[in-house]
Amino acid sequence: MRKLIGFKKTRSAVFISGTGSNLKNLIKFSNKKNSPISIKLIISNNKKAKGLKYSNQYKIKKKILNFKNHKTAEKKILKILFKKKINFICLAGFMKILSKNFIKKFKGKIINIHPSLLPKYKGLNTHVRVIKNKEKFSGCTVHFVTSKLDAGKIIMQKKVKIAAKDSAFSLKKKILKKEHIIYPAAIRKILN
Ligand code: GRF
Repeated sequence: MRKLIGFKKTRSAVFISGTGSNLKNLIKFSNKKNSPISIKLIISNNKKAKGLKYSNQYKIKKKILNFKNHKTAEKKILKILFKKKINFICLAGFMKILSKNFIKKFKGKIINIHPSLLPKYKGLNTHVRVIKNKEKFSGCTVHFVTSKLDAGKIIMQKKVKIAAKDSAFSLKKKILKKEHIIYPAAIRKILN
């Protein structure tokens, strides 16, 4: 456990593309007195991302990037990350794949949450594939980001039992609830 006196929260950014329920959850977590992170920046590749509303609500700076030119977008992101002295990045439903070069600059400092029990079901449409394969369990994983998709070292996982009546939609909801528990817990695990 960190000492509360003189302890500095790690300046962090959250990258999103959509709803932002994990973003909201991480902001609430970061606002706790003993949280190891302070969220200073929200990055989105999608100007219509619903999660962007949390920028106004919680008074956190946001930056929206057009990824038509991936290299330029990443350059701009790096610039603002350095300007704002960010040294920890949480991907939360961010739908772009970061380049090797970008990841190298933040080696060991980028983490992601994925809605499956990795290494199973990497990539997109996880819940649909899980239901189709009649799996008995699924879950979520927080892992370090490397240049290989959804393949970095696992920090934390949570298993969820799939009921016979579950659909991809109900499973998504069930797993999101667990995501909101393990994302902060995984951050504590590596930063405390
Ligand atoms: C989550 O299921 C997360 O695991 C995946 O994308 C989804 C984002 O949801 N990477 P939200 O935008 O945080 O609600």
